[in-house]
Amino acid sequence: MKKLLMTIVLTALSTGSVCEAQTVVPQACEQSIVVPNATGRYLWLPIEESAPEGKVQVITSGILQAEHNVRMAREKVDYYVPLDLQPFRQQGVLKVCVQNVPTGSICFSRLSQNDDTQFALKDEPYRPLYHHAPLRGWMNDPNGMFYMPGTDGQGTWNLCYQYNPYGSMWGNMHWGASTTSDLVHWQSQPIALAPDVWGTIFSGSAVIDHEGTAGFGEGAVVAIYTTSRPTPFGADVQAQCIAYSTDGGRSFTKYEHNPVITSDKRDFRDPKVFWNADIKRWNLILAAGQEMEIYSSPNLREWTFESRFGSEYGAHGGVWECPDLMRLPVRGTGEQKWMLICNINPGGPFGGSATQYFVGQFDGHRFICESQPEVTKWMDYGKDHYATVTFDNAPRGRRVAIAWMSNWQYANEVPTRQFRSANSIARDLFLFRDGTETFCGVNPAEEMLALRGKPAKQLTEACEVVVSLKGTSEITLANAKGEEVVMKYDDKARTFSMDRRKSGETAFSEAFPCVTTAPTHGKMRELRIFIDRCSVEAFDGEGRMAMTNLVFPTEPYKTIRLTGKAKATVYPLSL
Ligand code: FRU
Repeated sequence: MKKLLMTIVLTALSTGSVCEAQTVVPQACEQSIVVPNATGRYLWLPIEESAPEGKVQVITSGILQAEHNVRMAREKVDYYVPLDLQPFRQQGVLKVCVQNVPTGSICFSRLSQNDDTQFALKDEPYRPLYHHAPLRGWMNDPNGMFYMPGTDGQGTWNLCYQYNPYGSMWGNMHWGASTTSDLVHWQSQPIALAPDVWGTIFSGSAVIDHEGTAGFGEGAVVAIYTTSRPTPFGADVQAQCIAYSTDGGRSFTKYEHNPVITSDKRDFRDPKVFWNADIKRWNLILAAGQEMEIYSSPNLREWTFESRFGSEYGAHGGVWECPDLMRLPVRGTGEQKWMLICNINPGGPFGGSATQYFVGQFDGHRFICESQPEVTKWMDYGKDHYATVTFDNAPRGRRVAIAWMSNWQYANEVPTRQFRSANSIARDLFLFRDGTETFCGVNPAEEMLALRGKPAKQLTEACEVVVSLKGTSEITLANAKGEEVVMKYDDKARTFSMDRRKSGETAFSEAFPCVTTAPTHGKMRELRIFIDRCSVEAFDGEGRMAMTNLVFPTEPYKTIRLTGKAKATVYPLSL
């Protein structure tokens, strides 16, 4: 470990007032650390997860540049997080100021500064092998997803996400960023958006502005996101802001006249934008309390309110969040309909978070749901499928969705350490009819097929199991410790269920052990099960049912047991 050369200047304690970036530091630090320029790019902050939050401020020449809530280690170090000093170089003397952390705390002797991105990184047993997850820190919703075509036919899928770089619990929301060419192998990219005077950065979307309507250039990437800012009166103020990128999404500049949409509503967030060729304008949909608001704009900067949807439709057990709106083909009909995605928390079918959707028509101004108001439809019948949104500009008319694979009931408590949360595998969406209703179909992204290796006898930590079904059957994944996930297809009831009550570590939350059950919309002939170190995702072979559940086995499941006439093929995934 390279030793940090630092000078610790103890100064007088003073009570703090709320600080903003670019304002002069209004108070003295408890401990102020002068960070030498030459020693390295990252200052590694030692974290103790159960410690109360302290404040870490970055100050250059007396100006407060950034401020984060950090659980600085007091008695023991659970893991380290990097404070990237690069953005603050060249701005004079750089100081890091730590507040609300007792002087004798262990963190002050364990700080380290170097260029090593792998510093103190431990392999964790539950780190996914093929699902997108941050290397360190907390992640929730997928954000700002778009596909950038490449010159050689090989494009790049861009995925940002709600990110706390300074701990593995929710807070300090930034947009983390990553890219992939195949929706499986992800590269971590520098943080895309950091908090500013408007607040922390909540969920939102990104589009490619092919024609340069916003004035940031043809082909600029424009991100639209919510800022959330605390007020002295309690509730946070949420507003919609934009930022643009002229380097394909690698770096963003915030628009100087932000915010672009404001409201006095308490929950007003998660804008999803798309170009609507029918009206030759942009449409934006966002969540406002327990309904959705729809806007339009010629230029992504000036928005006109069009309509609201949903106060009488579907499930209302909690706040509506993270919407999406898209046109999809109805399989086997030649018809197209619109689908409105509405993530809801709490109020999901098995408690906590879930993704509901509505099918209908949209004319650029108003969404009309074709079902009766009391009809509720769920995209995925597992307990860990939330904040689902789709990529902008996906090739060949594909609608590719990714969901955050967790549930707000226990997301902060799941038994991982240096990082928390992964995303689902990417999925292709479509519509299908069953009786008088139209439902959302979900297929694992076609890229997953290319990963199938030679069939194996045993389950592996990263595999796809294809089960051919002939009637009712039970499918059990088990390890030598007696931990198991029991799935059942009931041919009579036309349901599929997954029981994770004995799946391994479950005691971290009362809400975790559960059985989830889905309608199969007809006979199920084939089941595709994707297993990774901490998740099981099950799909009907024809896309009419999806179920996503986290599991934390204390050793990997090795055996698969089947009842009835089912046959299973195990494909280890070649990664
Ligand atoms: C959904 C959500 C969003 C919000 C974000 C904050 O999980 O609550 O509504 O923008 O998370 O991290």
